[in-house]
Amino acid sequence: MLVALAVVVSLPWWLPGRVVALRVRVFNRINGDEGIPVPGDLVGIDRFKEVYSHPNASGRSKGAALSDLFWYWLSPGPEMHQEHLEAGERYDAVARTTRGLLAVPRAEAEELTRRCAARTLAGLRGLVRLRDVVMPLWAEFSYELVFAEPCPREARDLIVGNADDVVSSLKCTGLRHMERRRRLTRYLLGRLSQVRIPLPAGLSPQEQAYYLHGAFFTTAVVQMSEATAHLLMVLAQHPGVQDGARTGDDRYLDHVMAETLRLYPLFGIAHRITTGEIPLDEHTTIPAGAVLCFNYPDFHRAGFADPERFDPGRFAHSSQPAKELNHIPFGVAANRPCPAWRLAPIAMRTAAREVLHRYALDSSAAHTRSLPNRGPCLLTPLGAPRRVRPVLAFMRVRDRWEDVWRSLVQLVLGTYMVWDARRKRLCERHFHHSAEN
Ligand code: HEM
Repeated sequence: MLVALAVVVSLPWWLPGRVVALRVRVFNRINGDEGIPVPGDLVGIDRFKEVYSHPNASGRSKGAALSDLFWYWLSPGPEMHQEHLEAGERYDAVARTTRGLLAVPRAEAEELTRRCAARTLAGLRGLVRLRDVVMPLWAEFSYELVFAEPCPREARDLIVGNADDVVSSLKCTGLRHMERRRRLTRYLLGRLSQVRIPLPAGLSPQEQAYYLHGAFFTTAVVQMSEATAHLLMVLAQHPGVQDGARTGDDRYLDHVMAETLRLYPLFGIAHRITTGEIPLDEHTTIPAGAVLCFNYPDFHRAGFADPERFDPGRFAHSSQPAKELNHIPFGVAANRPCPAWRLAPIAMRTAAREVLHRYALDSSAAHTRSLPNRGPCLLTPLGAPRRVRPVLAFMRVRDRWEDVWRSLVQLVLGTYMVWDARRKRLCERHFHHSAEN
């Protein structure tokens, strides 16, 4: 009896880790381990950037079983998602439009972020999940980037419904709800003529709607919400850094953001399919058609002293220029980096300031790169009495127990989705049909 009780009580300390390990094994079993890990035995950390930047590391979707899984998670319209388009005229037209929509002067981007924050933070306090708090902000921000007018409530709900569904399925905490996502595509289809710059001309209206859906209402909203939730979690768990960020200059906050994205990069792995050989030395060549899996967390830890420690000061005191550090939160310049690499930090910094001007943040929940708990946090309006201790004790226990249940949910739903994606083979079928026509 006593033993059973001890096992149950200790569940949060050992079960989630084992379930995660099992999930990884199951995923590899179903998915196959087709990829070449970088860094790994073939390509060391010292050649990570060189291989990532190689002109032959340029295939995005065709020929990798892994693509079926990403296409599944990003549906509908994954064949029009900029990230997954192969190089060519279509990609160029889409990428040009994205650059055009993101080319907002700094002052305007800051002002837009402040307006969206004022609307979406109003009335918030108490125990929250940071990802849920900031997602409406970034939904409104993206909407206004695209349509140059304030986001109606109906659109905000559709965008948040879609983005939340995608990110929950990516983390295997929920299944896909395709109707929720399709409602957004239909809404965008009806509003194409109001987009503030011309959309790529060679695409059908359905394809244009899918493109906007993928880049601006899935990727932009998901990535900004995740990155901001990480930033606010870090501030909530490092009171000294929080004070410094509240009173310090932009440079300090930039170092905090850089260190946050070093420790918690949004991409775990980015993959590329080689379109030709990549010679490594006189004996070794990566063949065409290989799937290279670039591991961001591994790269971001190599070359830094005490890499697990959160230390924004490492960016202030580094003797190396930033671009020589193992730090690529927005990808590598030579191989399809994030088109929002300039705008995203400006907007994130402004959003963080808006939160810090209103609230003191505290959190005792686990902070991991995939953030499946969505960032539990206590928001206390500045100047209000802070009763932090009992709330943090409650949050810690709740988070531990939630982790037990969540790890089991992730195992079951993740296994199902990996299997379902392999069965549907969305990417493989798409290229098969294109070759036939
Ligand atoms: C802090 C926020 C963000 C981070 C850290 C981030 C990170 C990244 C990274 C690392 C890549 C490259 C992945 C690879 O090499 O395969 C990427 C690609 C991309 N990102 Fe972002 N991103 C952020 C926000 C955004 C936003 C706001 C947008 C808005 C449109 C966006 C759109 C894209 C697109 C379309 C690509 C694919 C680029 C291409 O293949 O041409 N991202 N992002």
